Amino acid sequence: DALLSADKPLAGRRAIVTSGPTHEPIDPVRYIANRSSGKQGHAIAAALARLGADVTLVSGPVTIPDPQGVRTIHVERADEMRDAVLGTLPADIAVMVAAVADWRVAASAEQKIKKQPGEPPAPLQLTENPDILKTVGHHEKRPRLVIGFAAETENVELNGKAKLERKGADLILANDVSPETGIMGGDRNSVRLIEAAHTESWPDLSKEEVAERLALWIAARLSGERS
Ligand code: CTP
Ligand code: CA
Repeated sequence: DALLSADKPLAGRRAIVTSGPTHEPIDPVRYIANRSSGKQGHAIAAALARLGADVTLVSGPVTIPDPQGVRTIHVERADEMRDAVLGTLPADIAVMVAAVADWRVAASAEQKIKKQPGEPPAPLQLTENPDILKTVGHHEKRPRLVIGFAAETENVELNGKAKLERKGADLILANDVSPETGIMGGDRNSVRLIEAAHTESWPDLSKEEVAERLALWIAARLSGERS
């Protein structure tokens, strides 16, 4: 069976990956965002494609190129990212790597807010953004494998475990993104895999190695379900 060939174990599987930050406008020239290079999410999209998956990458604004062999949808805001992800369902695999802004400005200004010397503008009113991972994890078209990241600066394992449950995910890759780790914006990553009944560490790998290992983990998990 060609679909089960050893080098393309994800042939015939559809995957959705989110990557990068979202930008939430304050006015036409200003925005709120999280720090995210997109390196880890893009590497995961590419690794899934190399294993034969049909991959849609939904990317926020990043400076790195679109990965090879992947359909990339470019978005700016969290609500656009959510719409693109839901529009791509059904899928077998969802890996939500994007650093989605948790809040957006409730009423962003149509025109550039002008500086009034000595008079800073009124505090911004924020409103909560949709939680894309949680939406996918509880969706009627829920993919068989729903995977998220948990970027933490403290209590990595505890916070990761709570996220696994809250979001309805099968796996959370938790990492410590404290500034001293150099993970944010860097080329390396150290993650802790958290499942309901099992955790393990993948310390000090390149972001490509994390992607490669995760793609193989996904292939093994799905092939186990097929038999
Ligand atoms: N995520 C998402 N949509 C959001 C927020 C987060 O899809 N609006 C996803 C991220 O892509 C990641 C996971 O949820 O896979 C965890 O994101 P994180 O920011 O660590 O979790 P939050 O639930 O937002 O909690 P907090 O920021 O308070 O730690
Ligand atoms: Ca968050």
